[in-house]
Amino acid sequence: MRVVVLGTAAGGGFPQWNCACRLCAAGRAGSADVPARTQDCLAVSAGDGWYLVNASPDIRAQVLAADVLAPGPGPRDTPLRGALLTDAELDHTMGLLMLREGGGLRVFAPRAVLSALEPVRDTVARYGSWTWSSTVDIPGLAVTTFAVSDKKPRYAAGSTASGPWVVAYRITDPATGGALVYAPCLRSWLDGFDEFVDGAAGVLLDGTFYSPAEMSGTGTSTAAQRAMGHVPIDGPDGSLVRIAKHSGIRWCYTHLNNTNPVLDRRSPEYAVVRDAGVEVPLDGTAFEV
Ligand code: MLT
Ligand code: MN
Ligand code: ZN
Repeated sequence: MRVVVLGTAAGGGFPQWNCACRLCAAGRAGSADVPARTQDCLAVSAGDGWYLVNASPDIRAQVLAADVLAPGPGPRDTPLRGALLTDAELDHTMGLLMLREGGGLRVFAPRAVLSALEPVRDTVARYGSWTWSSTVDIPGLAVTTFAVSDKKPRYAAGSTASGPWVVAYRITDPATGGALVYAPCLRSWLDGFDEFVDGAAGVLLDGTFYSPAEMSGTGTSTAAQRAMGHVPIDGPDGSLVRIAKHSGIRWCYTHLNNTNPVLDRRSPEYAVVRDAGVEVPLDGTAFEV
């Protein structure tokens, strides 16, 4: 299976357009130590076309930057076949509207996510005939789902659909046995997650926040940060101590929020992550599993 990490930032991207914080200012100034990042999105292929995991608002730029997603040989041929969605948040779904010119795409997402996306589905239906399914069925890849939480996007707060609203995926290429886990939203190190990642070649993990109180600088309390549903990297309940219990897995943080000091490769926090053997891949990083 071939994998391209198309984007690695949380909602808003990095730098965020309306943020004047120290990190965003450094990113905006073009510092090589603080690289710009688009909103998290992944592309995977077992040879027969490519599937996205999440459809970021930056999808147009991400597709243009990825050689493997270039159109052709026919004038409207594209290797893009569809998308898997981990949740219904805008940073993971707005790209669907940008892909409306592509006819016949297949979208897989939990039932609740499909229900929240009804307006998007109605809109896209005017442009091309897509299929939408809660059962993942991708030729050449085996996909299993891990239920993360019932956290609804703010725009769907009134929905009565039953969860899960947020999931992680384990994508396996049966031909090689290689498996990759994509978990950009993990609210805590949940029971069963160790088993879910066991034996995977790589895990792209929620790296939204470095510390449990990181949003305090923006006036957000620690409790409100926790309610956002992202396990911090650091601390006794953080992900780094849990990662350390696994060997043989290539761990990568993604979905980095613009408050996360790891965005700056000169920071002590970045050094902690790197010294733990965990990667913070740049947009466009490609690998095979
Ligand atoms: C999240 O990851 O918590 C959401 O995408 C938040 C948001 O961008 O609204
Ligand atoms: Mn997000
Ligand atoms: Zn900022």
